[in-house]
Amino acid sequence: MSGNESGRIISIFDTTLRDGEQSPGCSMNSQEKITVARHLEKLGVDTIEAGFPASSPGDQESVRAIAGIIKNCAVAGLCRSREKDIDAAWEALSRAASPRLHVFLATSPIHMEYKLKMTADQVAEQAAAAVKYAKRFCSDVEFSAEDASRSDPDFLCRVFGAVIQAGALTVNIPDTVGYAMPGEFGDLVKYVREHTPQGEKAKFSVHVHDDLGLAVANSLAAVNAGADQLECTINGIGERAGNASLEEIVMALRVRKDFLRCDTRVDSAQLYPASRLITLVTGVKVQPNKAVVGENAFAHESGIHQHGVLAKRETYEIMTPESVGIPKNRMVLGKHSGRHAFEERLKDLGFLVNPETLEQVFAEFKALADKKKTVSDRDIEALVMDSTPIVPETWKLDHWAVNTGSALGSSGVIRLQHKDGRYEKLISLGDGPIDAIFKAINQIVGREPELELYEIGAVSGGSASQGETMVKIALDGRRWNGRGVSTDVVASSIKAYLSAINAMEWDLERGGD
Ligand code: KIV
Ligand code: ZN
Repeated sequence: MSGNESGRIISIFDTTLRDGEQSPGCSMNSQEKITVARHLEKLGVDTIEAGFPASSPGDQESVRAIAGIIKNCAVAGLCRSREKDIDAAWEALSRAASPRLHVFLATSPIHMEYKLKMTADQVAEQAAAAVKYAKRFCSDVEFSAEDASRSDPDFLCRVFGAVIQAGALTVNIPDTVGYAMPGEFGDLVKYVREHTPQGEKAKFSVHVHDDLGLAVANSLAAVNAGADQLECTINGIGERAGNASLEEIVMALRVRKDFLRCDTRVDSAQLYPASRLITLVTGVKVQPNKAVVGENAFAHESGIHQHGVLAKRETYEIMTPESVGIPKNRMVLGKHSGRHAFEERLKDLGFLVNPETLEQVFAEFKALADKKKTVSDRDIEALVMDSTPIVPETWKLDHWAVNTGSALGSSGVIRLQHKDGRYEKLISLGDGPIDAIFKAINQIVGREPELELYEIGAVSGGSASQGETMVKIALDGRRWNGRGVSTDVVASSIKAYLSAINAMEWDLERGGD
């Protein structure tokens, strides 16, 4: 679809790696960010906001790495309206195939008076000067008026006019605190589009937060008012209550194309794999009733609904699970399933694995199928994620044993192999088997991170179900996630803890932050 009678194409600016990463518990290391960026490229977003380079050397490094890899969409870096920020962002972005400098400055009275301690004239001047400076390096510059929804609309038009004059190609209207109402926000977008001097030279964008649960509604109201670009995140992660959820925006535009007369370039079949990837990387799960990608989004519980769906799917389903990448279980996979069926299922699930990994995952699938009658998609997904560590393994599990009971305390023994080939073995006592074994690992590794989160759940039903463990560890104010899966809960806990330890070692070794 192009800008003709069948509707407009709305650009999707994904900020999962910047605003999303700012949400509590969602921090990612640079290897994880690269994995996510590759998936976003496959998903078909127009721009990936890879980070805020001036905020930390780690952010700068990951933006640089992503800029060097991504070829099929623009890569943006956020900067305050300061030369030093713009220099840092450009240093990280200059290798990108399509770099974008994203400059911002607040325009609301409350931000200007209390946060910036600047007058409106100073803000207008600094915004234009920052865009002018950014244009020296990069032709694609976006300007965001932070807290735009609480700014004076005429002042917004004035600032946007000044930054467009300075060369901004996109002007962004953020509802930074998630305060706007859909009708009101649509009116603001329309007013600003119509009254910004030389507004026809720029694209209008919105960036909406979800404090009142209205981020997607406000984004769609903005589309109706003529917005060209929507900023959003996978699973809606982001500051406080989060950002507008990418998957909800994309499916609302696609399913209601008849009404909204717009679409995006996103491959909707990659939405569910993208959502799962973010959950697996951050350890932050989506609620079961989450639209589009939640566990229950396509589950029909009541008899009346089940009957209706069986008679005609559309009675209670406005989109198919397959259209968002949730594979239909056409075939049950079990111990008699062959490599071909398994490989096909992997493709359906959005995984492209190399032959070596396929070999390994297939062997693990067979072992699991021996224990369980049927192997679910969730089980397969867990096996793949487990076999493809995102960071190189400093420590590999060799073997372990625990001893526990109600009368005596618990003890654990573990043997790990370091990447240099040496083996280390340790026995430790603890308050329960997990505590004992984690203490033994800490002693081998020579660090004592704090265990901030330890969560265990079942990947799928049945007593032979795989246990999925999520852990979060912290050391000196920095955090790492780990995840492990096994039919044995102690083994899944060890795998999860070791993957977090390996993420920590990888970061600390490289001195990034
Ligand atoms: O919410 C916001 O205003 C932002 C800007 C920096 C775009 O994230
Ligand atoms: Zn934001």
